[in-house]
Amino acid sequence: MDEARTRGGFPERASIEALGSPLARRVEVHGELPSTQERARELVRAGAGHGTAVLARVQSGGRGRRGRRWVSPPGGLWMSLVLRPELSPGKLHRVTPAAAVAGAKALWELGVEARIKWPNDLLVGGRKVCGILAEGEGPCVVLGLGLNANLDPEETGSPGATTLRRELGRDVDLVRLIGLLLGRLETELGRAGEDFGAVLDDWRALDCTLGRRVRVRRFGGVVEGVAADLTSEGALLLETPAGIVEVFEGEVEGLRGDFL
Ligand code: BTN
Repeated sequence: MDEARTRGGFPERASIEALGSPLARRVEVHGELPSTQERARELVRAGAGHGTAVLARVQSGGRGRRGRRWVSPPGGLWMSLVLRPELSPGKLHRVTPAAAVAGAKALWELGVEARIKWPNDLLVGGRKVCGILAEGEGPCVVLGLGLNANLDPEETGSPGATTLRRELGRDVDLVRLIGLLLGRLETELGRAGEDFGAVLDDWRALDCTLGRRVRVRRFGGVVEGVAADLTSEGALLLETPAGIVEVFEGEVEGLRGDFL
């Protein structure tokens, strides 16, 4: 770990801005926040735009998808980015799969063989290492990334979780990790407008959901079937006894107990 770019192992604002990413031109780094997601949304309401990033060493009220709590002790990468992607309002849902592909590719660059579980969890060996939360706020999308980096799985509060420390057997340089993530995100978000098919091809190459019998819990109830493919917009196509069902949101679990 390069101590000059970090304080107590956590990145300094200047070291993230020095990465030169257009996604992190104005960076806030906090020792502790309730939630970087809430702080980023507050900044958007106060006029912040594309290129604003918020990080916290610890979150006391981290939020996951579907209203769940996200345990966020020191050592993790808890980061929210304010994005104004070049996508028409009807295509903003493309941010989620683009971010999943970007996150998985960044982890492979670090030597971690991450796979995407639809819609946007990153797993290693069937255990979750990273969660992604994309939320609209005014004209922007606030993209939250929760990556279990330099901590032990027991600290995540989730029996189904893993961490980069566990997978690599060492801690990672968080500034380098952020640089890899921002670089990949910039590329994938750029492709999401005109070349979204290519993003989805990469999604499929990194996927661990398709071809499996799954149960999907969604707001309208539960549906079971074989995860057959994605639509051209990234929805999941499930083959059920009643026919093909298109699923836009939900929580997927493997029907054999383990997820892969
Ligand atoms: C999920 O449920 O898988 C999404 C988890 C997203 C967690 C991140 S951590 C940074 C940002 N701040 C939050 O409160 N949540 C997101």
